[in-house]
Amino acid sequence: MATPTTTALDRSRIDELTAREQTRLDERTPGSRAMYERARRALAGGVASSYQVRDPWPIYLATGAGSKVWDVDENEYLDFHNGFGSMVQGHAHPAITKAVQERVALGTHFAAPTEDGVVVGEELARRFGLPRWRYVNSGSEATMDAIRIARGHTGRDTVVKIFGSYHGHHDGVMVSIGVPYAKIGDREEYASLRYGEGIPQTVSELTVPVPFNDAETMRRRIERLAEEGRLPACVIMEAAMMNLGVVLPEPGYLEAVRELTRELGVVLIFDEVKTGLTIAAGGATERFGVTPDLVCLAKALGGGLPSGAIGGSEEVFEAVESERVYQVGTYNGNPLSMAAARASLLEVLTPEAYAHLDALNDRILAGCTEVIERHGLPGYSVGIGAKGCVTFSPARVVDYESFVRNQDEQVTDLAWLYAMNRGIFMTPGREEEWTLSVAHTTEDCDAFVAAFEEMASDLTS
Ligand SMILES: Cc1ncc(COP(=O)(O)O)c(C=O)c1O
Repeated sequence: MATPTTTALDRSRIDELTAREQTRLDERTPGSRAMYERARRALAGGVASSYQVRDPWPIYLATGAGSKVWDVDENEYLDFHNGFGSMVQGHAHPAITKAVQERVALGTHFAAPTEDGVVVGEELARRFGLPRWRYVNSGSEATMDAIRIARGHTGRDTVVKIFGSYHGHHDGVMVSIGVPYAKIGDREEYASLRYGEGIPQTVSELTVPVPFNDAETMRRRIERLAEEGRLPACVIMEAAMMNLGVVLPEPGYLEAVRELTRELGVVLIFDEVKTGLTIAAGGATERFGVTPDLVCLAKALGGGLPSGAIGGSEEVFEAVESERVYQVGTYNGNPLSMAAARASLLEVLTPEAYAHLDALNDRILAGCTEVIERHGLPGYSVGIGAKGCVTFSPARVVDYESFVRNQDEQVTDLAWLYAMNRGIFMTPGREEEWTLSVAHTTEDCDAFVAAFEEMASDLTS
């Protein structure tokens, strides 16, 4: 959906608007500033996670209800951030609130299995067409354990991942992420680059990156690894990339990856931490009709409570059932998380909810496309299910290289400021996208498009 004619953007105008919008946001958020001054004395950087850092200070939130959140200055926002895509149910959904309240009174933790966990497993098996499940508490734990299961199943060490993908914060996947690097190497032999310090070089070298949307290059790299005696245990990937904005798989790509991994005896892991439960009832696995050997879920699974899951075939899960691989954790299947997940899956994320999300996303994507075309902005809107974004790029992004080469960072940052100053709480970060919730309305989507329209008009006037 690239735009037919594009306007060359005036860089000094972008700088001017950025300075104006930055000042406006600072003036609207004195309470966050004060909270930051206090927080940084106790919390490193004043935040709970480095992904919450923001210059000059983070926006501290106080409450959420339905599609809205309020910050400590009582600014009201429509929430399109939704907890990095976790809150597809909307905030404080009555069914989830009720389930959690009832469970709290009955005991919140036993480190023993409960019926809710069984029900959730049955429902996930139905949705994803994978018979065996285990629980964890986050996306990072899901990908960490899935890789271990794949290694246990195959008896091999090497992991193949997509260059630019984020799969959580454990050492084995903090490699070649979607941030600019000085040198990434040749496309056929991308380098294993550590994402931040503190990751042993030897561990990062076990993870080999390949480009997205290019099954032939993946095949060649795996075949070369096999010749070196390093046939991989697994390929871990998002079926639709959600960490370079949204990058959809090209037709036939996922089928080709499925075929080559099956042929070469490599376990295929779909990291559906973002896509699972947000783009369809059975995530990318259902939406694209390609079933991996293992699937990783987290984020939206727990309706706002920490949770995660790994699903897989009987064959691959044999490594767990035979206890050759220890898949463990004190809080795995925590009763509170499982009560929330059960209510979410059975009462909230219904077929009607997915139809609603699809219709809303069609509306917001069409609205953004119309604005882009009318103003001749270099960019396009792209999305699926509850997820989408405007990619400010003159060319279509299909992988890490085309993202880094083309994404307009300045306009991406400006769009975030415009949204925030007009009551749209957007995911911060140049690699991020919006997540709609079942509580969002057509009016909410129109408000998003209106804020975007204001920026487009100011940029091109
Ligand atoms: C695709 C993907 N996998 C894994 C993770 C890690 O999840 P968590 O932050 O819950 O550990 C993320 C987090 O953004 C993600 O986007």
